[in-house]
Formats: sequence, structure tokens, C-alpha cells
Amino acid sequence: AKVHYHDFVVQATPVKRLCKTHNTITVNGMYPGPTLEVNNGDTLVVNVVNRARYNVTIHWHGIRQMRTGWADGPEFVTQCPIRPGKSYTYRFTIEGQEGTLWWHAHSSWLRATVYGALIIHPKEGDSYPFTTPNRETALLLGEWWDANPIDVVRQATRTGAAPNVSDAYTINGQPGDLYNCSTKDTVIVPVDSGETNLLRVVNSALNQQLFFKVANHKLTVVGADASYVKPFTTSVLMLGPGQTTDVLITADQPPARYYIAGQAYASGQGAPFDNTTTTAILEYKSAPCPAKGATIKPVMPAMPAFNDTATATAFTTSFRSPRQVPLPTEIDHNLLFTVGLGLINCPPGASSSTCQGPNGTRFAASMNNESFVLPSNFSLLQAHQQGIPGVFTTDFPANPPLTFDYTGNVSRSLWQPIKGTKLYKLKYGETVQLVLQGTSIFTAENHPIHLHGYDFYILAEGFGNFDPSRDTTKFNLVDPPQRNTASVPVGGWTVIRFVADNPGVWLMHCHLDAHITWGLAMAFLVENGLGELQKIEPPPADLPLC
Ligand code: C2O
Repeated sequence: AKVHYHDFVVQATPVKRLCKTHNTITVNGMYPGPTLEVNNGDTLVVNVVNRARYNVTIHWHGIRQMRTGWADGPEFVTQCPIRPGKSYTYRFTIEGQEGTLWWHAHSSWLRATVYGALIIHPKEGDSYPFTTPNRETALLLGEWWDANPIDVVRQATRTGAAPNVSDAYTINGQPGDLYNCSTKDTVIVPVDSGETNLLRVVNSALNQQLFFKVANHKLTVVGADASYVKPFTTSVLMLGPGQTTDVLITADQPPARYYIAGQAYASGQGAPFDNTTTTAILEYKSAPCPAKGATIKPVMPAMPAFNDTATATAFTTSFRSPRQVPLPTEIDHNLLFTVGLGLINCPPGASSSTCQGPNGTRFAASMNNESFVLPSNFSLLQAHQQGIPGVFTTDFPANPPLTFDYTGNVSRSLWQPIKGTKLYKLKYGETVQLVLQGTSIFTAENHPIHLHGYDFYILAEGFGNFDPSRDTTKFNLVDPPQRNTASVPVGGWTVIRFVADNPGVWLMHCHLDAHITWGLAMAFLVENGLGELQKIEPPPADLPLC
């Protein structure tokens, strides 16, 4: 196994998109940032130097960080931010994960432009459990704002209103030629007829689930979130922010140019969304050249409608592990967390400029009605390790404090989310089954829920309210897929299981950044076990403190 050393300099860099140039926060001047490539078993050492004027942290999304929680990255959870002018070295080993992950800033909305691919090849000497592809291409879907994303979220936080939507979706930072001024800002993926390419698709968008298609080509899914899956063939992918999907594509069509397209899946009601399309081009090297002065339009795939829940569900329920999995069967913690939006009434006398949510409220979001607030004086992990009182409590409820028709026509006055910093405590090695139950307070939306420090098994998903007597029969207890981010369907539920074998403090949140800003998060506190390999390592000497 190797050790890979990298320097990440976080800095403002002029970037031009959609005809406008603005100073964009990047890593090493690159947007998206550098791709990291390692083998399973290798160690990464990344020295992050902050030369920007914002606080920053970097999260290695999906890396399990066994016993190295100090390197996980979410600000005020596992570390305090790296202040402007300061640096911090993240050091961690990849243990048993293969496929595609990514890294991103985990501070305010910096991840809009501070992100990149993290590719984990098989262990040295091993090969893929599928035919070795001729080529590999990472495709990171993203969003571009004409404004500074930090200003967008600050404005939303100040006014209590919904944040502005982005101005373009992107593939590897390029909107593609369907947008204004973007003819040159289009990614070209070259192929030779007959070749097979492994596309590593990542949804790095801030606030949008996305459909993904390649015109006229079938996609064979072989992995997701750095776990292999039982291969299946589809014409369309749907990824929530945070999720990755590895697909094989064979160049078996007439030599030509075919659009690779990403477009919104936004099945919630009432939410403003952007139904534009980002494109890259799959270009056969033997494609006929256009006559002089003429252009040939690439073939465009028919995209699903923005609210095509049936297509999204058919895709998300197609995943299986390649073989039977060691699923925990004795459950120590049977949990049900609601996930959803809410609205907080403004106190009498509050300025109307800060109450610009629907009907003079402020937007909020919660799990079990707890709207998560990050501490500011200590990271949660440091407070836990050093026994610092008053930073958090461990009374996060195992079940909703109030039972009601979660996905029915719920009055928004039923729940006023309560702000707090509550963790749920687990002993080392305990097993958890968690029902993530969507709610329709204000509006039902999809929620891509991401758990740090763990992969979990997804046993089932469905619509309406989870009903144990009816829905446990739908559990896949044989070969459920392993993931780090689960799409909780609009007006529905998802059930996951995991073993608490990684001590530390682990954030779980909706990966739509608007929702995490509103508090759709909580954290698990996993205690050390007694064995040597059951304890978190001591903090690195350069860990940023508050
Ligand atoms: Cu991809 Cu908490 O993050």
C-alpha cells in the first residue's frame, strides 16, 4: 500500500461561466478541484492551506475514516474550521472501499465550487469484478451560480426565505452548449467504436437531485458510493447530491456525437426549480466531420420529466449487493426519524425583513422536530473526547415526539421545529435499524440522507407512512445494497441498518445544502470499545481549535 501526499491550496480564482467572470473559491486554482486516485488500502495525506477569506474544512465524502474521525471534516462536528491563513493536514487510510467517492468543502456553501473526485481503484494486484474497461471518465454533476454561493446562503439565512436557485447545472464544471455563451464550455468524452468506458458519475450539486442519461446508449450499473453492486442495465440514472454511480457504457452505436445530459429530478411541490439541461458530449473518434461551415447537433436523449417519481423509484430500487451480506439481525436500537421541512413563526415584533418565508415565517428543517444547530466554541468530537460540558446533549429522540399522519395533509402549525444540538448515543458494536420517514409539512420533498463514518444497508423504501406490520415484509434481508447516502423518496420512507463499529461523532444530514442550512441534521455519538482497534486515535497535533 502507498502513501499519497497532496497539497490543497484553497484560494480565490477568477472563473468565467455564462459570460461572466467572478472570483471563485477553488482548490489549487482548479474548478472542479483535483482528482485524487488511490488504491484500496492506501493512505492519503492532504495538507490543506487556506488562502481564502472564508473559513474552510474538507470532507472526504464516503470515506469510512475508521478510528480517524478527526480527518472527517464537517466544521464544528469533527474539527473547528481552518481559518484564513492557517492549514491542517488530513491523514486517513482507505480500508475495504473500492469505486468512486469525492471530496468537498464542509463549511457554509463553499462546496458549490470546492469539490473533486476521489477514485479508489482495487487493491494493488486485484482487478475489477467486471470486464476491465478500455477507459475511465469521472463526470461530476454540479451547479453554478452567477452570484457568490456564500452570499446566496447568507441572504437566505438573514431573510428566512428560500435561497436563490443556481444559474446552471454543470458537468465537470462546464454547463454545456445548451446554455448561453457555453459552446466552448462543454466536456467532450472521446470513445472508439467497440470500446467500453467506465463512467464514474457523482452528484456534487448543492441542492438538486439529477437524472443522468446518455443518448441511445445503455448503462450497466456496477457500483455506487464505493461499493460494488450486482450489475443491472438501465437507460437513466437518478442521483441525489452526495451519491455516486459507476456505470459501464459500450460504444456500440453508429459513430456520431451523443449528448450526455443531466437534468433536475424535483418531485416536491411548490419548490422553485430549474429545468434546464447540462450536457457533455460522447464523441466517437470516427464520427463524420460536419461539412465546412456546418454543424451537426449531437443526438439528444429524451429526459424524464422533473417530477417523474416512477422513473426515479424504478432506478433506486434496482440496487442489490453482489452477494449475500452480513446483515446485523439482532437490533439494539430500533429508530424512526422524521425528515422534512417546517416553518418557524416569527416572534411578535420581529422585523418583517427577517421573516420572508411563506406567510411571514422563516424556513426550517428538522429530524424528529429537532432542528440541528452546530456549536461554535468546540467541535462536537473534541467536546466528547475531552468531556467538555454544555456543548451538546445526548437526548436526541429515538422516535418522533408526536405521532401523526406524516405524509398526509399536515398543518404546518402542528410542528414548530425546535433548535438544539442533540446527539444520539451508541455503544461500540451496537446495531441500529433506522426508518427515515419523510414528512409533508409545508411541502414533501426527496431527501438524500448522508451518514458520515459509515456505509449502511438499505433494506427497503416506500411511499406514505412506514407501517411496521405491512412494510417489514418488504425488507431485503439477503442482498441489500450498501451506500453512504440514501434517497428518501418524496412523501415516503427508507429503512437502513448499520453496526456502530466506528467510534466518534458522525453527522447525518440531508445533502441538499439548503436543508442542512435549515437544520436537517443530527449526529450519532459512538463510544469507544474496549479493544485496541475499537478506539478513536488521538487528535493530530495541528487539529484546528475554535
Ligand atoms: Cu458530502 Cu456531510 O457531506
